[in-house]
Amino acid sequence: MNSRTSLQKHKNGHRLLIDGQPTILLSGELHNSSAAAMVDVRDKFAKLSDLNLNSVILSISWELVEPVEGGFDFSLIDGIIEEARLRRLRLVFLWFGTMKNAISCYVPEWVKTDTTRFFRAEGTPGQGSWTVSPFCREAMECDARAFAAVMRHIREYDSEHGTVIMMQVENESGILRATRDFSPAGEAAFHSQAPTDLTDYLSTHSDDLIPEFADIWKAMGSRTEGTWSEVFGRDADEVFMGWYIASFIEHVTAAGRAEYDIPMFANAWLIAGPGYLPGQYPSGGPVSKLMDVWRAAAPSIDFIAPDIYSPEFREHCASYTQSGNPLFIPEAQNGPLAAANALYAIGRHDAICFSPFAIDDIATDHPLGETYRMLTEMMPLVAGAYGESQLTGFVQQSDEERFSEGLAGYRFNARTNKPLAEVTVPGSCLILSIGNDEFFCIGYNLTITFDSLDQSKNTAAIVWLDEGEFKDANWHPIRRLNGDETFHGTGVQLTDKLTVCKFKLHAHK
Ligand code: DGJ
Repeated sequence: MNSRTSLQKHKNGHRLLIDGQPTILLSGELHNSSAAAMVDVRDKFAKLSDLNLNSVILSISWELVEPVEGGFDFSLIDGIIEEARLRRLRLVFLWFGTMKNAISCYVPEWVKTDTTRFFRAEGTPGQGSWTVSPFCREAMECDARAFAAVMRHIREYDSEHGTVIMMQVENESGILRATRDFSPAGEAAFHSQAPTDLTDYLSTHSDDLIPEFADIWKAMGSRTEGTWSEVFGRDADEVFMGWYIASFIEHVTAAGRAEYDIPMFANAWLIAGPGYLPGQYPSGGPVSKLMDVWRAAAPSIDFIAPDIYSPEFREHCASYTQSGNPLFIPEAQNGPLAAANALYAIGRHDAICFSPFAIDDIATDHPLGETYRMLTEMMPLVAGAYGESQLTGFVQQSDEERFSEGLAGYRFNARTNKPLAEVTVPGSCLILSIGNDEFFCIGYNLTITFDSLDQSKNTAAIVWLDEGEFKDANWHPIRRLNGDETFHGTGVQLTDKLTVCKFKLHAHK
């Protein structure tokens, strides 16, 4: 049965449609154990409405759903759904199954304690680990059966309401502290031929591969057959793990989607920086360079999603929007910079979801609350602009930065107002073109000036600028600004308090 949520391509982007309306998930992810008891869920959901979230991302786990093999308990899931309906929150569930941060800590006791039937990955040959091997067929089948039961139940319980809108399948998968799984089953697979399903995919998509991955394939001569080492050389271990972990998750996802077809994705523990090797981050997980491998092995996954804790927020957003992958950020830092990163991800990359991790820790006067409130009021305008090249955004990552971006005939030049240590929220903005040389701008701590993109016109300036706010989805101008407040009609000032303004530009000789 189809759900009330869908992810659709729209011109040069994607739109998330809920009941036909383009929507951006202004979200937050709860701590891992915050949804393990209804008493906590009630308490936490009450606060989320105060922060103006329209959705929440939270775990449901195999160990609580199937404590005894074949005996399912969905009472917690039902309670969470009821509470979400009461609070008008949509839900994105995280399926903590076999893989959670590259470890199998969320499998039920009957899986955890039977290391023969559910054999472990081996980082060193002969030595077990905390991770069930991705080559363990029994684990894959049992995980898929449990996930299918969950999705069947959610369809029966919720499809009319559409409270549950998406599923993340497993969490930060991969193999840690080793480049691959050296268990006997893993070794047998590694010393076999690389599957033609993968090499055929690479041949068919050779012109559109992620550049980093194209280089890996080309390094060994773009081979279409051979062992993993022959085809992928020194990257063989990670590509091999990527293929088999994605195949495991594909099996689980396909079983779930056969029961209830809502969008599903896989999230990644990112590579912390240059020089980090697979195993220092989970080898085979959905890092952006493996996007093509994941696409080939896991067609039931709609997209891969980055958990961005690193200060290089802009760079990670860019790497996860390659090759038409929609940007969905299930985890991010939850400090005041979350407000800045939300504006940037939405403005620059048409992000369909922004979600700081540990949202339960932040106070209700966190700047994210006001930012989400304004974005909620602007939702039809902003989400309705996705895919239409009507949006841009900036975010400050170091003390002094300058940015420049063209939009609707003008070049917007932004510079940071103050070093990071002197601002609450880093310099950031979202600019929306609404036609007729008019724009909305919302943001913090930047100064923005303009040029015309028409080379015959060397001056661009403000015709008028109103500061105001959105209420009930309508724009309410509060005060006209000019003189010192707009540098005499030549620029927009965004301060430490969320600034929302509408202005008209004019270009002339
Ligand atoms: C990333 C994981 O995906 C989350 O579940 C959580 O464990 C955080 N790390 C903790 O920082």
